[in-house]
Amino acid sequence: MPSSTELAPAAARDWITRWDRQQEIYLPDREDRFTALIDAVEAGTGRPDPLVVDLGCGPGSLAVRLLARLPQATVLAVDADPVTLSLGRSAYGDTPGLRFLDVDLRAAGWAARLGLDPGRAVDAVVSTTALHWLTAAELHELYHAVAGLLRPGGLFLDGDHLRLDEASAPVLARLDRVLEEREDHRRFPDGYPGREDWQQWWQAIAADPALAGKVAERERRAVGHHGPEGALLSVHAGALRAAGFAEVGTLWQRGSNRLLAAVR
Ligand SMILES: C[S@@+](CC[C@H](N)C(=O)[O-])C[C@H]1O[C@@H](n2cnc3c(N)ncnc32)[C@H](O)[C@@H]1O
Repeated sequence: MPSSTELAPAAARDWITRWDRQQEIYLPDREDRFTALIDAVEAGTGRPDPLVVDLGCGPGSLAVRLLARLPQATVLAVDADPVTLSLGRSAYGDTPGLRFLDVDLRAAGWAARLGLDPGRAVDAVVSTTALHWLTAAELHELYHAVAGLLRPGGLFLDGDHLRLDEASAPVLARLDRVLEEREDHRRFPDGYPGREDWQQWWQAIAADPALAGKVAERERRAVGHHGPEGALLSVHAGALRAAGFAEVGTLWQRGSNRLLAAVR
């Protein structure tokens, strides 16, 4: 039996269900995007047991969906947030093929901390709604490291809101935002009454005594957003090409919500 300050698996799964619901406020097509990403892993790696690294995994929403479709896969789920890592470990710690790792993607040499077998290169590096937290300089470093992890022909797949650049396409960048605002207003004309949003989810988490230590550690680490440039498509595409990726393009898209893909 877990003690009163330890999170039980069922309680962790409840928090993750609430996490998924609040994420869907911002990402109405979140499940479709997960499905498209996993389709690309399945069809693009061409093996039933791919080795996959999930960057900024949160509580493991993508990792568990991937393993449900590809149960022979191995997923190294990486994040620097002690709260979401703790939820993922408590909820899914016994899932075969899944390992959560506490790694800050901005730290030099982070890839070495994955503990990879030198004889087995990574088939796919994936991510959802996470890499826009990084700066352009951090993304350049990150994509060099990702290129070093992947086998030749391996895939990088990033589901995120990646916007057009106002400097090079001011009219389209504005229209992109207007369309998104209009769609959001049609979905939620009165705001989000009765729906828990990102901020409320974090407030609720902070009040759970079983997570107090993790919440304090999260505040100490201050992992957060680091500027708007990480949300620009041009920054990601440029950094991927600079890191030597052969093909870079969008595989799935709704407005600026897209699945950016690159082939090593
Ligand atoms: C909005 S959440 C998305 C989580 C998950 N991928 C999903 O789709 O539900 C963004 C995640 O990126 C992680 N993240 C941001 N910067 C990071 C960094 N420098 N190193 C590791 N993880 C990071 C955050 O801790 C957070 O869990």
